Amino acid sequence: MKRLTVTLICIAAYIAAHAQIPALYPTGNGTQLTIGGKPFIILGGELANSSASSGEYMDMRGTWPYLAESGLNTVLAPVYWELIEPQRGKYDFSSVDYLLKSARTNNLKLILLWFGTWKNSMSCYVPSWVKRNFGKEFELARNSDGSTPEIMSAFSESNVRADAKAFSQFMKYLRLNDGAEGTVIMVQVENEIGMLGDARDHSKLADNAYRSPVPYDMMYMLRSGKAGKHVEKIWKDAGMAAEGDWKEVFGEGTDADEIFMAYWYARYTERVAAAGKKEYNIPMFVNTALNSRGRKAGEYPSAGPLAHLMPIWKLAAPSIDLICPDIYDKGYPSWIDMYAAENNQLFIPEIRQVAENGARVFLALGKYGAIGFSPFSIDNMPEEQDYPLKKAYRLLQPALDLIAEKQAEGKTDGMLADYENPETTITINGIDFRCRHDLTLGWNPEASDPGLWGETSVMILDMGNDSYLFLGTGVVTTMSPSDGKGKVGIESIDEIVFDRNGKMQKLRRLNGDEDHQGRHIRIPFGEYGAQLLKIYRY
Ligand code: DGJ
Repeated sequence: MKRLTVTLICIAAYIAAHAQIPALYPTGNGTQLTIGGKPFIILGGELANSSASSGEYMDMRGTWPYLAESGLNTVLAPVYWELIEPQRGKYDFSSVDYLLKSARTNNLKLILLWFGTWKNSMSCYVPSWVKRNFGKEFELARNSDGSTPEIMSAFSESNVRADAKAFSQFMKYLRLNDGAEGTVIMVQVENEIGMLGDARDHSKLADNAYRSPVPYDMMYMLRSGKAGKHVEKIWKDAGMAAEGDWKEVFGEGTDADEIFMAYWYARYTERVAAAGKKEYNIPMFVNTALNSRGRKAGEYPSAGPLAHLMPIWKLAAPSIDLICPDIYDKGYPSWIDMYAAENNQLFIPEIRQVAENGARVFLALGKYGAIGFSPFSIDNMPEEQDYPLKKAYRLLQPALDLIAEKQAEGKTDGMLADYENPETTITINGIDFRCRHDLTLGWNPEASDPGLWGETSVMILDMGNDSYLFLGTGVVTTMSPSDGKGKVGIESIDEIVFDRNGKMQKLRRLNGDEDHQGRHIRIPFGEYGAQLLKIYRY
């Protein structure tokens, strides 16, 4: 009996101590981030690169309260190897302590970004004792013209060992100092990995690997048809060799070089991530500089965790849970579509800070069940109280538990509209919801100027019992039966606010002008709102 009691006390203590540990949890309709078993959706923002190097600077600017008041629940902040390990083997975690303390005081979660071997391809954040040993103990990558960019080679054992050691010390520090509280909910490993100048490293070490047999796991993936369209095509075009070195299997050229490099970048990243997870097993991800604007590998950071190389990264870096796009280019909907794959839940750790983000967040959460959304340089967000992202986050924040519950059930959807693509039909339960940019109505003066349309968006939550909750901005929706039989009418629309406990409260009955005398449900252009629609069929 006594033994049983002791065991139970130990189990209870273990659970209590680990209650706040973040994890990724498969729901059957995707994957959710959970903290202490409870789903958590990230309304985030990433600090500008140098802000977190100085607590004084951030405090002077009032950054933490500003972000909390703006509706964020999570801040993405870099952790710099050069500051953590200024002298070899001597660690200084004061910058991490500052982040933990400030986030907790302001009731915010943290995602820490390990600026280790690579930051936007380059190795500028490595400590000086590493930099001063470039070309000696630590190897740089080499371009085909013999030049050595300040990019550490993915093929050097000393490089990966030094990084993995520092990263594991950092993760251990987090376990000891945050394991019970769970302030840090995810960690990004490196930042925008990828080779510049050439599609692959041409150093001696790299050339040796290039002339060695393609590893078994990669060959096995190819033969099982799981390498993805792009990689498979390069392999097929090169003659589908069943074994051989990288040239024999993939041929020559930029695409082949990128495939080789992706495998080894992923292997390096895996070594670092696995060393960290051994100390503290919380979700980890990598972020991606996109291959946009018609550039070739090497012009864009070659071999990073890009959509066309995702199977390689998933294979060679299994400790990385998510592959995430950094979106600085046009075409937001198509980019996020590429990174929302069956085995990759969408999370957007960076997106250029523009007013449209206020609308974009609804598409990510609604259509893709995203884990979260996070514009870059958030500490420099415009101060206006009614800045779109602030309106969106403030609307969403109290609704997050409900959204998470519906995401898990697969009962959310969403759309984004702009001047070029003003409408989308979403079908739910045999009803076509025709969602259009509000300016298609032509009622607002802005409607006649395409330059003023901007992006608008809505997410729809299926609440059951003929009820649908609309959250978003600037979208007007009409309903009809998908099978064309009969009609769908509006029984009622209520404007919704959420109380502090996330409970829906009906604020106003919307009818008359607000629903165009029963013709549509509309969140007007420029406004952010939640409306509960109940329909009937006749
Ligand atoms: C993407 C990087 O990941 C960020 O750290 C930052 O450099 C932005 N680009 C651009 O400012």
